[in-house]
Amino acid sequence: MINVTAILETRANVRAARQAGKKIGFVPTMGALHDGHMALVREAKRRCDFVAASIFVNPTQFGPNEDFARYPRTFDADQWKLEAEGVDLLFAPSVEEMYPAGATTFINVDGIGDRLDGRSRPGHFRGVATVVAKLFHIMDPDIAFFGQKDAAQLAVIKRMVRDLMLPVEIAVVPIVREKDGLAMSSRNTYLSPEERRQATVLSRALRKVEKSYLNGEQDSAHLISVARKVFSEEPSVKVDYVEVIEADTLEAVPSAKNGTLVAVAAFIGKTRLIDNLLLNA
Ligand code: PAF
Repeated sequence: MINVTAILETRANVRAARQAGKKIGFVPTMGALHDGHMALVREAKRRCDFVAASIFVNPTQFGPNEDFARYPRTFDADQWKLEAEGVDLLFAPSVEEMYPAGATTFINVDGIGDRLDGRSRPGHFRGVATVVAKLFHIMDPDIAFFGQKDAAQLAVIKRMVRDLMLPVEIAVVPIVREKDGLAMSSRNTYLSPEERRQATVLSRALRKVEKSYLNGEQDSAHLISVARKVFSEEPSVKVDYVEVIEADTLEAVPSAKNGTLVAVAAFIGKTRLIDNLLLNA
């Protein structure tokens, strides 16, 4: 695996692979890699000839009171995992490399970028869209791989790619879950044993909504109340949102159909977790 921190060197390596006729796959990450990330890498390996990954904890997608400083950084372990999966290039730039002094250009995906996590975390998707656009310009991938777990992020990135005519296919990889249903997330490492137990409430709420939908319930308000009832069984968990929405626009829909997204976010102690499911009868 080629290990690079400089943009120019990354470009040169990716260009050489492209000139050799290889299809370029790209997996952007913030590190603290778990099996969810590894599923992205494996899918990239399956579909592409040259796979690049990035590790960059992007400061602009964290709010002033969020966890940028304490976000888990496990670079050595991450590097070994990527190498073991056969990743060809790892790009791990510094903040200065990605945001040259005085950088003032940002990308706003209006509307979508202010819904769900964008509403709860103002400016979050401005940071995500900006860094992902920069990474796409550096890597120039044929296909970029993202997890379904970050459903709102996915909608923002797909819309940005469409609006800015970026020549990249966005591939979506299903959520990877722990045995008890908890969606894998780098932030799960923040949870105490008791919080870890409580955290299963997100997937339990979604499963209950799915069951209700499969039994014929389509009314969004009712499906939301089903989820909220499950959350109420864990009184110390603070629900941020429960939404029944259209997956591409993140707009609320009055009634659910196949393909409708149910998305939840909740605070388990200080840790904010998200999860979602696409309804499909
Ligand atoms: O999903 C993530 O890990 C991040 O939001 C991403 C896409 C790497 C941008 O920093």
